[in-house]
Amino acid sequence: MDVESLIHSIERGSPQDTESLKSFVQHVGEGQLPIEQATRWLKAVHRHGISVNETVILTEAMINSGARLTWSSGAPVVDKHSTGGVGDKMSLILAPALAVCGCRVPMLAGRGLGHTGGTIDKLEAIPGFNCHLSPEAMQAAVDAVGCCIAVQNEAIAPADGVLYSIRDISDTIDSLPLITASIISKKAAEGLEALVLDVKCGSAAFMQTIEEAEALARSMVNTAEGLGIRTIAQITSMDQPIGTHVGNALEVIECIEVMQGHGDNDTKELVVMQGAVLLAMTMDDVSIEDGRNMMETCLKNGTALERFKMMCIQQGVEPELAEELIRIPQSVLPSAANQTTVLAHEDGGVHDLNAMKMAVLARKHGAGRFKRDDVIAADVGFVLHAKMGDQVHKNMPIITFHHQRDLDEEDLNFLQEITTIGSDSCKPVKRHLKTVKRDSTKP
Ligand code: URA
Repeated sequence: MDVESLIHSIERGSPQDTESLKSFVQHVGEGQLPIEQATRWLKAVHRHGISVNETVILTEAMINSGARLTWSSGAPVVDKHSTGGVGDKMSLILAPALAVCGCRVPMLAGRGLGHTGGTIDKLEAIPGFNCHLSPEAMQAAVDAVGCCIAVQNEAIAPADGVLYSIRDISDTIDSLPLITASIISKKAAEGLEALVLDVKCGSAAFMQTIEEAEALARSMVNTAEGLGIRTIAQITSMDQPIGTHVGNALEVIECIEVMQGHGDNDTKELVVMQGAVLLAMTMDDVSIEDGRNMMETCLKNGTALERFKMMCIQQGVEPELAEELIRIPQSVLPSAANQTTVLAHEDGGVHDLNAMKMAVLARKHGAGRFKRDDVIAADVGFVLHAKMGDQVHKNMPIITFHHQRDLDEEDLNFLQEITTIGSDSCKPVKRHLKTVKRDSTKP
């Protein structure tokens, strides 16, 4: 395995030999390449970048290092990926809603690391929910229910697992082609026809500016399209949390409220927007507007909720408990012993609800991990009573922190700093900032 010639090509800005690149990834996936050589290659990519074409080859080789789901002809196979936000709970609603609308959704998701929560941690707040599905079990679940949500595992793109762990310790995480290949390889291994990407942008996102978010979106769209997956990216703002609930069990409650037909509009709008674009990309004669109507209808009439219940039962939740969960989620999910509410200190507009600060405090109190194997508290998090742009009166509740441990003075000060109320008026914050697609992508 001649890693040196690959590195020289990257340094010179000339294309790496395709067969050598494929062989490099294969050796990585099989654990046959010394870590020092893989590190040198990663550092070269991180420093000099590689072309879209090479990113496609790299991604394809990473897919081929593991299992790939295959599907009989029929309903479109679709999924979404989000780059991670605070209160980002869309997958729990999107998967069953799209299944009701006639799609198959074999969703692979991750656990939270850093300040953002993970879909798997949210689902595991539900007693009995099993996210450990083999590729065969995923296929059986999708055949039975139309959707499943499983944790990423070594069967899928194992070369990514090895490279990611080396990136983690070699300061090479923040590289567009490496992030792209890592994310798209796992999604493409699901055997997708179409993919929607939610690229977060703002103070609580990995991409802080619209330019950075757009560059990542373009890289992922071009690579996924290069692999034959119709792909659209939606860049959305990540300054205040999404919806009204933040934290693992609390976010499940909000999802159920949305599927009961009366949830928060911010959350609903994001899900409808993501679902509509997938329906329009994959179904003949379905426009974005039709897609929106299909999504809104299944959230309103209870069919998405019923499908969510079926998914829970298929993935190990006792049927009576699943029934109770979708009726009164608070009676099934864990709840924290303590609640502390921040009140508005004056009349005015809500200028800031700082998502990053909420995530930091919730993580400190157990809602997130500091190390990969940390056990997290499902019941810790926030409920928001107001959103940015709302007008509030003195002493109105703004946010409630749900916690297990008592708060010390530092926590109490930090909690106060999450909200900023100003006497001057302010506008509601726009969530959807921009759509990125390849010219050939419908719609
Ligand atoms: N998520 C991934 O799966 N890989 C990355 O490189 C970054 C985020």
